[in-house]
Amino acid sequence: MYKFFVIIFVCLFLGKGSADKPCAARSVDGRSVLCVCNATYCDDITREAPASGKFVAYTSSEGGLRFNKIHDELEDVASSSCCTTTLTINPDTTFQTIEGFGGAVTDSAGLNWKNLSETLQNELINAYYGDNGLEYNMVRVPIGGADFSSRFYTYNDLPKDDVKLSNFSLAYEDYHYKLPMIKKILSTSSAPIEIVASTWTPPLWMKSSNKSSGFSHLKEEYYQTYADYHKLFLEHYAKEGVKIWAITTTNEPINGVIPFIKINSLGWTPYNMGKWIVNNLGPTIRNSTFKDIKILALDDQRYTIPVWFELMVKKHPKALEYIDGVAVHWYGDAFTPASILSTVSKKYPGKFILATEACEGSFPWQKEKVELGSWSRAKNYIEDILEDLNHNVVGWIDWNLCLNADGGPNWVSNNVDSPIIVYPEVGEFVKQPMFYAMGHFAKFVPRGSKRIDVKEKKPVLKKSIENAAFLTPRGTIVAVLYNGGGERNVAVKLGDQQARLVLDSNSVTTVEFLYQSSDSQ
Ligand SMILES: *[C@@H]1O[C@H](CO)[C@@H](O)[C@H](O)[C@H]1NC(C)=O
Ligand SMILES: *[C@@H]1O[C@H](CO)[C@@H](O)[C@H](O)[C@H]1NC(C)=O
Ligand SMILES: *[C@@H]1O[C@H](CO)[C@@H](O)[C@H](O)[C@H]1NC(C)=O
Ligand SMILES: *[C@@H]1O[C@H](CO)[C@@H](O)[C@H](O)[C@H]1NC(C)=O
Ligand SMILES: *[C@@H]1O[C@H](CO)[C@@H](O)[C@H](O)[C@H]1NC(C)=O
Repeated sequence: MYKFFVIIFVCLFLGKGSADKPCAARSVDGRSVLCVCNATYCDDITREAPASGKFVAYTSSEGGLRFNKIHDELEDVASSSCCTTTLTINPDTTFQTIEGFGGAVTDSAGLNWKNLSETLQNELINAYYGDNGLEYNMVRVPIGGADFSSRFYTYNDLPKDDVKLSNFSLAYEDYHYKLPMIKKILSTSSAPIEIVASTWTPPLWMKSSNKSSGFSHLKEEYYQTYADYHKLFLEHYAKEGVKIWAITTTNEPINGVIPFIKINSLGWTPYNMGKWIVNNLGPTIRNSTFKDIKILALDDQRYTIPVWFELMVKKHPKALEYIDGVAVHWYGDAFTPASILSTVSKKYPGKFILATEACEGSFPWQKEKVELGSWSRAKNYIEDILEDLNHNVVGWIDWNLCLNADGGPNWVSNNVDSPIIVYPEVGEFVKQPMFYAMGHFAKFVPRGSKRIDVKEKKPVLKKSIENAAFLTPRGTIVAVLYNGGGERNVAVKLGDQQARLVLDSNSVTTVEFLYQSSDSQ
């Protein structure tokens, strides 16, 4: 009898997964740690619902903490002497509603994933999309090939001048890599997955250049064909049981204007882009069974907003009737003020802004494409996400979900870094600091959360604690804090209560507690 109860107790305990599996840390000289996953072990993390009067905090740091979880009591502001730095949360001032976080299922991500054993494949998807993982709820997928493919292709390469797209078909990569990976994501995630799809280039015969990259534009006689190409993709994916949530109006049109960029691309002038949206893409989608799909303009760097969005809309105001939002990439963020984003949301209040691509290691001066264990790359992710969220961006989608040790494959050698690097030959994958950077947002800020106001008070000579706070549909307050300096005592205040935190040097902390509004107190 006694034994019987013990067994039941143990089963319930394990079944609830309340014990987190810690990071199997591997140190890298002079860098932060990697967390190693193999066929028998992979770290995980459960979010704990905070009890009344308490808070739960999770910390990852350059020093090697990974989702280090602590529980503590909220204290009375009046009876506390802590801290010279305070973050006062004001839930009455709300901003944008969060859509979600995710990563991209490129051909290369799918190929690297498929190269792992089935056990590791499951672990990798769980790590990102599972309840004990980061709880990602978004995916981006290229329509046809991109640079992160092992060859060049589109869905209708032949015959040439096939105006009716009579030979449109999905590729080997869809059936073997992308669709299986997406289906695994759909069956793993508890939250509905929102998928954003983007075309890098149409079939070459539709282009002025007849080339995959370089200076080009869409031949006018194929404007409708290119719109139909998108509709056919939506139909083919729907037939496979994969529903697309949004399409963008072509990935990074600026690459087709700059002649030396080798990435698959199609150049657009803002004027012609507007014309195509108004006359072809918009009506084709809105008159189809996919009429509710979101259409996202731009899908390019922040600095291209004034021309490829604002000027486009100025020339073709009707485009706004078809566009739901603006998609932005991160590659020029270091030299473009984020205020450009707030300006868009002020000027076009019905439109949302979504960050659809980001990765480290893409610039020519970054010689080490995969920088194993880099904390500075994790920090760049965190700072960019905080900055975007504080300028009304509703979600943030990372680039390749996983890459190989070279940061590939990439058919034009545009290798980059990824939060997960796979080592199929030794039966492992490693989670980089960037993986945890994503998790501090994705896991704790669910879809439907609203960003709320935070006011920081700090000693003049101290660095700011970078932050963003949210009111979640779970009835909790979540704040994400980045401390880029030395160890620091910080109080996160709400009304007459506060969570007192000791923030490690170079660390990110997510803190969560119940929101009891003044009328319910
Ligand atoms: C898998 O990882 C665990 C935890 O680090 C380790 O104990 C075990 O030896 C590893 N297994 C293999 C086959 O390397
Ligand atoms: C149709 O496309 C396939 C590749 O998907 C190609 O092998 C075949 O030649 C094409 N058919 C025609 C008539 O061009
Ligand atoms: C486009 O280039 C391909 C080779 O890449 C060639 O076979 C084809 O004839 C070219 N088409 C045109 C219209 O020039
Ligand atoms: C649907 O197509 C017709 C022409 O076929 C067009 O006049 C109409 O504007 C389209 N509807 C939408 C919502 O774009
Ligand atoms: C797949 O894994 C094998 C080793 O198991 C490796 O030789 C091969 O290069 C990998 N493929 C890619 C595209 O990384």
